[in-house]
Amino acid sequence: MDIKEELEELKKKVSVEIDKSSSVDLIENIRVHLLGKKGDLTKILKGLKDLDPREKPVVGQMANKIRTQLETMISQKKHILEENKLDAQLASEKIDVTLPGETFQIGTKHVLQQIQDQIEDHFLSQGYQVMYGREIETDEYNFERMNLPKDHPARDMQDTFYLTPNVLLRTQTSAMQARAMDKHDFSTGPLKMISPGKVYRRDNDDATHSHQFHQIEGLVVGKKITLADLKGTLQALTDELFGKGHAMRFRQSYFPFTEPSLEVDISWNTVDKNTASQDIEWIEVLGAGMVHPNVLKMANIDPEEYSGFAFGLGPDRFAMIKYGIDDIRNFYLDDLRFLKQFCQVGE
Ligand code: PHE
Repeated sequence: MDIKEELEELKKKVSVEIDKSSSVDLIENIRVHLLGKKGDLTKILKGLKDLDPREKPVVGQMANKIRTQLETMISQKKHILEENKLDAQLASEKIDVTLPGETFQIGTKHVLQQIQDQIEDHFLSQGYQVMYGREIETDEYNFERMNLPKDHPARDMQDTFYLTPNVLLRTQTSAMQARAMDKHDFSTGPLKMISPGKVYRRDNDDATHSHQFHQIEGLVVGKKITLADLKGTLQALTDELFGKGHAMRFRQSYFPFTEPSLEVDISWNTVDKNTASQDIEWIEVLGAGMVHPNVLKMANIDPEEYSGFAFGLGPDRFAMIKYGIDDIRNFYLDDLRFLKQFCQVGE
């Protein structure tokens, strides 16, 4: 076979191969086998040098023509195969935009936040300011300024998590009392503030105890503030939260930073499931009292001229009573079946 015939043969053979090839990879293979360094066409062209000089240009031209033809066929076929591949991919990944979407759930406020908001709204309407304190407090504000010096036995009841010997996770929002008094300019009028937030105690968690819970502190300091003001303030709050008609009971208690100190219960009508007989139950809701003169003095406030009341309530407790929740851990377990009962739609 002379070179011309070889070239014709190759053209025929490769044309058929190109025609038959069904993937981009196969066509790429054909290209390499034909035009690569060791490719069939390259091999044939190497024989050109042994030809008669008169024949060389003719065969050379022919070889170039065949090469261009085959190259064009290869690239055309490759293009078609690539398009087909893309079409197939698009078809397989097609998105039906008319299908209904997946609805996802919109969160609502946690029941504890709802109670806190209600209490904040109530006090804002009474002219109080809301002060958010810090959860990491100093021993000074958490204890000492609250009339609990380092060796005070009442510290035992509020053991907590210490970061350093003088910095701790606050055990009570009362720490904000001293900060508020330090900040307030009494020439502008009385201090009226509430301070909601998280507090921590070293406690073993059970149905009614949690090592982390919430408090809302209240503090009013001004001239001629009396225990009657405290009573009226608390009655107004419980009337709003639990509805009018719940009597309050003040029991004598002890806190180092109030004198006198009180614990406050509110009445609850209960009905015995078996006998249907009605009864009144008292439920403790908060601690309170008149601000201790030492606490005022430490804030450079003259106890002869100024007096005040303070209270600390647990919104967790309020929510438990208000909604009949019997285990404080429910608030923190993130169980949607529990949380969904307090959904506020449209908020
Ligand atoms: N801080 C007290 C506690 O955590 C509650 C309290 C606040 C009592 C303010 C009196 C006045 O138990």
